[in-house]
Amino acid sequence: PVLVVDFGAQYAQLIARRVREASVYSEVVPHTATVEEIVARKPAAVILSGGPSSVYADGAPQLDARLFDHDIPVFGICYGFQAMAGALGGTVTHTGTREYGRTQLSVDGGILHEGLPTTQPVWMSHGDAVTDAPHGFEVTATSAGAPVAAFEDRARRLAGVQYHPEVLHSPHGQQVLTRFLREIAGIAPTWTAANIADALIEQVREQVGDGKAICGLSGGVDSAVAAALVQRAIGDRLTCVFVDHGLLRAGEREQVQQDFVASTGAKLITVDAVDTFLSELEGVSDPETKRKIIGREFIRSFEGAVTEVLGESVAHGEAVDFLVQGTLYPDVVESGGGTGTANIKSHHNVGGLPEDLQFSLVEPLRLLFKDEVRAVGRALGLPEEIVARQPFPGPGLAIRIVGAVTRDRLALLRQADAIAREELTAAGLDGQIWQCPVVLLADVRSVGVQGDGRTYGHPIVLRPVSSEDAMTADWTRLPYDVLERISTRITNEVPEVNRVVLDVTSKPPGTIEWE
Ligand code: XMP
Repeated sequence: PVLVVDFGAQYAQLIARRVREASVYSEVVPHTATVEEIVARKPAAVILSGGPSSVYADGAPQLDARLFDHDIPVFGICYGFQAMAGALGGTVTHTGTREYGRTQLSVDGGILHEGLPTTQPVWMSHGDAVTDAPHGFEVTATSAGAPVAAFEDRARRLAGVQYHPEVLHSPHGQQVLTRFLREIAGIAPTWTAANIADALIEQVREQVGDGKAICGLSGGVDSAVAAALVQRAIGDRLTCVFVDHGLLRAGEREQVQQDFVASTGAKLITVDAVDTFLSELEGVSDPETKRKIIGREFIRSFEGAVTEVLGESVAHGEAVDFLVQGTLYPDVVESGGGTGTANIKSHHNVGGLPEDLQFSLVEPLRLLFKDEVRAVGRALGLPEEIVARQPFPGPGLAIRIVGAVTRDRLALLRQADAIAREELTAAGLDGQIWQCPVVLLADVRSVGVQGDGRTYGHPIVLRPVSSEDAMTADWTRLPYDVLERISTRITNEVPEVNRVVLDVTSKPPGTIEWE
């Protein structure tokens, strides 16, 4: 792998993701990893991430110069660039001038920026600056606040930049990272969806052996792709469980029952729990209470189905040993990383399975980012309807009805949501949108006029957002004509809705969902 050493900024994961976009496998390691540990991983290259604003700051993480004794290609970014310069005998000066945000970079020679504009905008965020490159390095770029903004030593396969190539505000950053990987480190692009899928299927086969597994399907991309991988690996020894809680969007149950099963051949149990969920939710409008009820009922339903599957197996003298989960890499990194399979008391993960059930977790996606999960799903032949699906919250439409949940309100919202999705897809906008919650303000009424009569109906809110990870988001500037079509259709086609409004709040301060 290409190892990204995390010096504590938010950027390490993003760097790993960009490296993978260049079709090279990459993982994040903490800066506390020793040189021996890094070398033992046989990295194709090491990337030193950004970090605190100053290498001189109290407690600033140090770089062990012995890293450079192993003929490993190294790329330094921002703090990593300065740490690298310092470790190799260059000079890092506390200049006192801060450079923050969009900056013009002037390129002069070198292979890293070859073929790219000689002046280009880049994203800077630093206080100190490298004022002298280490011996043997060519200085290939400068900026107003960084006399040495990029350097390279091609013979030793070392290079670095003061700016952040991993962020979108550095428009040529991806090319620069790719050039380092290909031209300086000499790494071949082999991290492709088909290769990833093959490798993961093989791993699952090894892990599960001739055991049995179950997988809860949420209707979302992650659990669908995880299940498809495991199904490829162990066939009918996997049973999928899908709980219909009545809070799904139009067509979702059918999508799982037909499209998913048709494209994977997986064995599926559907639990129809609509009545239970809706009666438990009756009269509840507090968001947190809704979430708690749904979480509790979900576990009950899932548990019931599992007991059923187990019962069958036990009758045949077998056991279900594995629980498949669609955990992704960002969750793994956030919870402290770690490799290997946790053997847990299942209720810690699924939130309430009987204590005496012991499962080993199968998490085939635990090293993947969302876009890679989608690519693997496509490589496995899952239909676009499943793979390109927007994220959808577990509590479903219940947290998109501001007010109490009823069958009628669910029906209205489902209809409005289907219209919005249809029009966004028809306009080719799915790629630009992270997700577009459609919210029914059930406790709000406004006066309108339709035909010749006065109406007193409910507003529907459109909440289109753009995001890379849902941690932060911006409201998507949808074309007016698309908004108009959605608005006209919803007010014409959905009874009791007489107004469509657009949410123009970013996150923060708003969250993506309304509840
Ligand atoms: P917020 O509203 O917190 O949402 O900005 C961030 C992302 O998480 C999704 N979301 C949920 N997903 N269970 C889920 O599985 C939940 O309870 C839940 N609440 C929010 C939301 O759709 C967005 O993608």
